[in-house]
Amino acid sequence: MVNIAIFASGSGSNFEAITKYLQKRKTAKVSLLIYDNSKAYARIRAEKLKVKSVFVNPKKFKSKEAFEKELIKILKAYKIKAVILAGFMRILSPYFVQSFANRIINIHPSLLPAFKGTDAIKKAYLYSVKITGITVHFVDKKIDHGPIIWQEPVKVTPQDTLKTLEEKIHKTEHKIYPKIVEYFCRGRIKIKRRKVEIA
Ligand code: GAR
Repeated sequence: MVNIAIFASGSGSNFEAITKYLQKRKTAKVSLLIYDNSKAYARIRAEKLKVKSVFVNPKKFKSKEAFEKELIKILKAYKIKAVILAGFMRILSPYFVQSFANRIINIHPSLLPAFKGTDAIKKAYLYSVKITGITVHFVDKKIDHGPIIWQEPVKVTPQDTLKTLEEKIHKTEHKIYPKIVEYFCRGRIKIKRRKVEIA
């Protein structure tokens, strides 16, 4: 079974959705949660789901490279084959991305390339978009960027508030992301010259 690590900085609801899905289906194993924020609620979820969690405090390292070298050391120790970013609010350097080339996946709560960065749901809502959604993509050297694996649209109705839209987006993330992660772990997602194919 493929061992994966999930990186999170905050609530960890996607971490929980992916972990529960894979624990039930036993198609891959979430062996590790790495978090970079001591207050991340993801840690509590990991405890409940009996997943090992490791806090890597960026402030303890002299440079980004030193921080990422520590990440890579841990990933190697746990024989991690893929890194799943789930609300990990930190830009990974080309050095890290290269070390796990085509094995890092991210989710973003908008239809990329629209509304990159933080607060994407709010940005889309304030823009008064009629359709937004979620994007799952391979990670490259730029932020919220890289070959797209899957996009799922979410309609914004006149009745939606920011809160209801956030709920719809998160519900969609929790439905889609675990399936994509499983597909990837089963070798059903291929990438060649930045073109993604799902078998
Ligand atoms: C998710 O909505 C995810 O798409 C977003 O952070 C949230 C994390 O929620 N990621 C980004 O904005 C990446 N640029 P969670 O901690 O409850 O999984």
